[in-house]
Amino acid sequence: MRLDKLISHSTAFTRSQARRVIKKGEVTVDGIVITNPAQHIGEDAQLEYLGVAVKKPEPRYLMFNKPAGVVCANHDERHATVFDSLFLPRLETLHIAGRLDIDTTGLVLITDDGAWLHRITSPKYKHQKTYLLDLDSAITDKQINALENGIQLKGEKKRCQPASVFKISQTRIRLSIYEGKYHQVKRMLAAVGNHVLQLHREKIANIQLDSSLKEGHWRELTEMEIKGISDKG
Ligand code: URA
Repeated sequence: MRLDKLISHSTAFTRSQARRVIKKGEVTVDGIVITNPAQHIGEDAQLEYLGVAVKKPEPRYLMFNKPAGVVCANHDERHATVFDSLFLPRLETLHIAGRLDIDTTGLVLITDDGAWLHRITSPKYKHQKTYLLDLDSAITDKQINALENGIQLKGEKKRCQPASVFKISQTRIRLSIYEGKYHQVKRMLAAVGNHVLQLHREKIANIQLDSSLKEGHWRELTEMEIKGISDKG
């Protein structure tokens, strides 16, 4: 990260105040005065301001229970965003690990740890995402077989990986997938001739949406939840 950004994230200085103190030679990196605010600083570097250690902010890991009507974007002209509900400093450093559509509800993971974010979103690590689906018409065995064999979606080069399907009732299923293609679940059900009326994400990898978390609320992840993602693969 750039030195001025790091200083402003770790102290009460704004970005321009951080630039000023850096240019004045008041900041050291590993004991050496650095006066270039744009200098990139490694993860383990030790920063000091006027001889006092500057503690870098701890990475943040959150789960959010997304209501319908809220968008997974940093800014939106017309709708409330996930970030509007967080009331946290340095919102610009936080990222969503796997966006949901505006009408989809449920589990959203948010972090400012880039490596952890990559682990969740990269198909390489095979983290399963589980959804609860309410369908327009009764699910048939043929449709379940097709989903479990891997659907070929229009406009995609590769077939989807096989999904796991658990039938709860005629029009309600639980579906787990490893990928996160655009509108993937809705497109998969459309491809077998059904239609998703309501979609709710229950789980990502080892992290289950906390049943005590009200819609529109968030909580920090536990160490075990964080570790489950970091340790896999
Ligand atoms: N698949 C979809 O179609 N929509 C979502 O919001 C998430 C997965």
